[in-house]
Amino acid sequence: MTENWIAPSILSADFARLGEEVDNVLAAGADVVHFDVMDNHFVPNLTIGPLVCSALRKHGVTAPIDVHLMIEPVDRIIPDFIEAGASYITFHPEGSVHIDRTLQMIRDAGCKAGLVFNPGTPLHHLDHVMDRLDMILLMSVNPGFGGQSFIPSALDKLREVRKKIDASGHDIRLEIDGGVKIDNIREIKAAGADTFVAGSAIFGKGDYKAIIDEMRSEMAKA
Ligand code: DX5
Ligand code: ZN
Repeated sequence: MTENWIAPSILSADFARLGEEVDNVLAAGADVVHFDVMDNHFVPNLTIGPLVCSALRKHGVTAPIDVHLMIEPVDRIIPDFIEAGASYITFHPEGSVHIDRTLQMIRDAGCKAGLVFNPGTPLHHLDHVMDRLDMILLMSVNPGFGGQSFIPSALDKLREVRKKIDASGHDIRLEIDGGVKIDNIREIKAAGADTFVAGSAIFGKGDYKAIIDEMRSEMAKA
């Protein structure tokens, strides 16, 4: 059985104290650091890049760093994230002209690779690359900002992808990103997700351990 992972999105952390924020959320029981990269082109916002990823590693972060690229194009910058210590690199099919090549590039460098689907992006991009994936990330908001509401149609999409993963026999994580909260994490888990990104739900509260514990107990009810 795949272990359920909580992946706080540092987009909602206090960037002025980022190292400390990441230490605190990991000490509170988070499994993965979700690292949102935006380019003011693919999405209407601009965030952090490889220098910040590398700074977190130098700060002493050893947990997996899950780099979510909301940028276009992706190929030029991927080696920089690998060098910076990324563990997972996921990208949107719209951000790469050659999806298969990009996935291969990530894996050849020893990193885990994944594809991300916007709410309106069809799943056919999965058809010929299931054997090249370590992660499938479904967006439950349109990417660009934290703090948006969960789009309910993501639940059906999760169930559909869960079936595809199980039928493939490959070891692929199913991650959900956007609007994940204590009050919907149980149904999201029941729909098949095993990796849960949460930004504002965690960093918006003072007590990270209390919220992560509560998320886990909700998931256990699914
Ligand atoms: C949105 C990002 C998310 C975001 C989630 O474009 O990919 O990772 O930080 O934030 P919440 O959990 O606040 O919806
Ligand atoms: Zn994200």
